[in-house]
Amino acid sequence: MKKVAVGCDHGGFVLKDRVVSTLKALGAEVEDFGCFDENSVDYPEYGEKVARAVASGRCELGVVMCGTGIGISISANKVRGIRCAVVTNTYMAKLTKNHNNANIIALGGRVITPDEAEEIVKAWFTAEYEGGRHQRRLDMITRIEEDAR
Ligand code: RB5
Repeated sequence: MKKVAVGCDHGGFVLKDRVVSTLKALGAEVEDFGCFDENSVDYPEYGEKVARAVASGRCELGVVMCGTGIGISISANKVRGIRCAVVTNTYMAKLTKNHNNANIIALGGRVITPDEAEEIVKAWFTAEYEGGRHQRRLDMITRIEEDAR
């Protein structure tokens, strides 16, 4: 069973319950790193928690949510080994697994609806990484990451 880390700020909270129920319906085990209500919090904290859970191997995948998906994705991408993609439709969701092997996706609670989030999570979770020429490009990204140390 795949374990998926989930985290959001107050702007993404509106999507979280649906994302969690969708992941569970897909057969995933979910670890919820908060936040747990709509009180204002700082998205880097939640992006980092989810990213560290994925980078450490504690969870295989992650879904992060903030108002736009952008701030929390930037935060998650600061953790080595994370490929976090902001996704606004099912095409991007499928392709970011097929080509980028995104281990985290970021969703915006002020950009998409819970219904759209459900379809996006399904498209990403069920898609497969294609490897091949894409692996060369992911290796190039890893090299950039290593140079930045
Ligand atoms: C919070 O107001 C908002 O800035 C945050 O949720 C996110 O959209 C940042 O990128």
